[in-house]
Amino acid sequence: MKQKSSKMSTLVISHLVASIEEKEILHGVSLTVRGGEVHAIMGPNGSGKSTLASVLLGHPAYAVNRNQKAGNTKIILDGKNLFSLPTEKRALAGLFLAFQSPIAIQGVTVMNLLRTSYQARFHGDGSQAPSVQNPVLARRTLVGGLPIADFMALVGDYARRLNLDESLLRRGIHDGFSGGEKKKIEMLQALVLRPKFAVFDEIDTGLDVDALKAVSMGISLLRKSGVGIIIITHYQRILKYVKPDYVHILVSGNVVKTGSAALAKKIEDSGYKEFTG
Ligand SMILES: Nc1ncnc2c1ncn2[C@@H]1O[C@H](COP(=O)(O)OP(=O)(O)O)[C@@H](O)[C@H]1O
Ligand SMILES: [Mg+2]
Repeated sequence: MKQKSSKMSTLVISHLVASIEEKEILHGVSLTVRGGEVHAIMGPNGSGKSTLASVLLGHPAYAVNRNQKAGNTKIILDGKNLFSLPTEKRALAGLFLAFQSPIAIQGVTVMNLLRTSYQARFHGDGSQAPSVQNPVLARRTLVGGLPIADFMALVGDYARRLNLDESLLRRGIHDGFSGGEKKKIEMLQALVLRPKFAVFDEIDTGLDVDALKAVSMGISLLRKSGVGIIIITHYQRILKYVKPDYVHILVSGNVVKTGSAALAKKIEDSGYKEFTG
């Protein structure tokens, strides 16, 4: 199913300063991502990559730029400052985060979650279409403007392309899922919800080569449909399948270097020591 965006979006992150438990983790990170671009953020363990992802989505545990010391922090999506908005409003504005370690929610099936979030994203009121068993009536029930049968077909189509067993869609999200299944379910959400910008936090970690290819295919599809992408990764591995437009090296809460895909290769060969000094 082809999904296209009407115009390219821009996400401008400027002077992102963030602390947790009184400890400053990010010291003024700035980054601009345009629709259809892939940015890779690489960095050693503990450099603040997951913090950046959480703060972008407005995780309430982080204090953002309390002292204004790096100037005004801004997170601007198509001209709108998301800085003081809660997570759900940021998501509705078009930001998406695939978690490094997604939590399980028993009793909320993957399909339920997709349906509720699709409805909220494309209708904005968060209301849930009633569950209808009758196939004739079901066709008239809309989810985010789509007949429910079409919505289910859309989800099923992406699930197949990710080589995901469709029985997973009826189970509690991430409840007992394998590492690879969790990552593919995160990707499935991105594909179905069609955000303007998607952040993938270590979506490649722990994947076998087939799952890695499936997830990379998902990223390529999103890129083609105009989604701006931030891939947070430790390894060059995924970047063989998805060539990034930019690579940023994050060390101790600062972007210390920005380059092309060649920079990722260099990191693979010689590590971060040149940047950690
Ligand atoms: N809840 C927390 N309390 C205290 N320190 C934290 C908390 N969460 C993260 N940190 C610290 O923030 C730093 C950055 O962590 P993180 O963003 O997860 O790094 P990365 O994803 O690059 O490995 C680490 O030093 C980590 O220990
Ligand atoms: Mg991390």
